[in-house]
Amino acid sequence: MLLFKKESDLRIYLQQKKEKKALIGFVPTMGALHNGHLSLIREARRETDMVVCSIFVNPTQFNEQKDLDTYPRTPHKDIELLSRVGCDVLFMPGADEIYPPGLNTRIDLDFKSLDKVMEGAFRPGHFEGVAQVVKRLLDIVEPDGLYMGQKDFQQLTIIGYMIDQLGIPTKLVSCPIIREENGLAMSSRNVRLEKGLRKRAVVIYQTLLQAKDWIQEMSPREIEEKALKALAIPGFRPEYFKVVDARTLQEVDQLEKDHPLVACAAVWAGEVRLIDNMFLS
Ligand code: PAF
Repeated sequence: MLLFKKESDLRIYLQQKKEKKALIGFVPTMGALHNGHLSLIREARRETDMVVCSIFVNPTQFNEQKDLDTYPRTPHKDIELLSRVGCDVLFMPGADEIYPPGLNTRIDLDFKSLDKVMEGAFRPGHFEGVAQVVKRLLDIVEPDGLYMGQKDFQQLTIIGYMIDQLGIPTKLVSCPIIREENGLAMSSRNVRLEKGLRKRAVVIYQTLLQAKDWIQEMSPREIEEKALKALAIPGFRPEYFKVVDARTLQEVDQLEKDHPLVACAAVWAGEVRLIDNMFLS
């Protein structure tokens, strides 16, 4: 695996590969890699000739300094995992490479309320930061495929929208959520969970599964109310549980044919904020 820290070096290297018609798959990450990330690399390997992964803890998407400061960083382990899984190129830029002084990287795009609900309501500015860094990375790597996990469902929807609206010639590939043995969705933040909480955090997955049953006989609002109660166990504080249209991310009043619904949750487990989601139909 080759490691690049400078945008200019990476561009020169990738240009040579593109001239030889290599298809490039790209997996952007913030490091602290786990099996969920590795599944994205494997999927990209299956579909393309060459996999580029980036590790950059993007400051512009953190709305709380404490969250940025405590975000897990495990660069040595990440490098080893990536080489083992067959990643070809790792891009590990510093902030001055991604946001060089004088370069305007802000995205001027109306996300049509996709960014105002759920995560957007609780983490103001978060998605502007995500869109900004993903666009910048896409400009540098110019990949054929962008591989992202369904765990961050709202992020995935917003990036898909951005790619469409800006006419970016990259295919977005949505990859399934990878779960720990008990069902907890894999996340870099899980390592910060105290052992007992990590075990009991399965309540989020169980509640999502229950919502799948409840949708047969209850309205979305009734499900949300019931789920919030189920999630409020000692040590846990649900921030939201929403049943939304999977395309618009807006609330719906009932299950309708041809309108897939997804349930999305954010829950504090002690000091750690966890998110998860599941298609209900
Ligand atoms: O999902 C993440 O890890 C981040 O939001 C991403 C897409 C790498 C952008 O920083």
